[in-house]
Amino acid sequence: MRDSKIITFAHYKGGTGKTTSCINIAGALAKEGHKVLVIDLDPQGNATSGLGINNQKLETHMLHIMDRKELMTSIILKTNFENLHIAPTNHNLSMANIKTYDGKSEALILTNAIKEIKEYYDFILIDTPPSHGHFIINGLIAADEIVMVLDVGVFSLESLSIFNESFFDFFKKLDLNLNISMALVTKSNDTSLPWKRNYGKEIQADVERYLNKPVFTLPYSEDIFISQAAGKPLSHHNPKSKIAKKYKEIAKKLSVEITAL
Ligand SMILES: Nc1ncnc2c1ncn2[C@@H]1O[C@H](COP(=O)(O)OP(=O)(O)O)[C@@H](O)[C@H]1O
Ligand SMILES: [Mg+2]
Repeated sequence: MRDSKIITFAHYKGGTGKTTSCINIAGALAKEGHKVLVIDLDPQGNATSGLGINNQKLETHMLHIMDRKELMTSIILKTNFENLHIAPTNHNLSMANIKTYDGKSEALILTNAIKEIKEYYDFILIDTPPSHGHFIINGLIAADEIVMVLDVGVFSLESLSIFNESFFDFFKKLDLNLNISMALVTKSNDTSLPWKRNYGKEIQADVERYLNKPVFTLPYSEDIFISQAAGKPLSHHNPKSKIAKKYKEIAKKLSVEITAL
């Protein structure tokens, strides 16, 4: 049986680069020959469209999983990229009928749904929406590892402790740990800014100190825009670009343990 690794990309803030990181790391892992599934748990459906799937034309999708109406095997689609599959989503996911998290079972919907397909994949990457709600909780609980995705800003470090405090009690109640294995600081060198100082490096050092885990920076890059407009991961659109190489390096770091097994 395959020993799959489930990695959730998370932060409660929007626009930090969670989806961008999820799909580009997925592409890099798939290109290295790993079997990869991306689970799109954000009603915006950006991971779905970012991997070239029209999210307006889906018959079955993650809503049916979160409402416990379908099995993962009936919603997963192949993408145009070898070894890379997607459990797609569109805006309908926001109508999922999960009411509260006072019961353990609602928080474990995704964890339970994944069980039947886990053995087919080396990596399952989960993209979560910016919130404190149902979907992020399900994504965090299903994860073996959490990748925090932060943007460059004065509030970055503050947001890390808010994240920890928001979910800590909930996880403790379920007797689970928040296993943050690395952090990414995106758009770390915004060249449009009038000052020269590289705040990305400073924030990287602060986050490293706070988490005591590896922290990678991702430079601002036009290639992100171009590859997303083409519906392709950088690994398959412009693998020679600087940002593609960065994501490849991060994918390698995430895959070290699994290939060493
Ligand atoms: N390194 C980068 N360089 C340039 N644009 C980026 C970079 N990372 C993300 N973006 C852009 O920033 C925006 C927010 O990123 P996204 O991945 O959608 O964030 P999130 O999923 O956290 O809401 C998107 O338009 C995306 O294309
Ligand atoms: Mg997103």
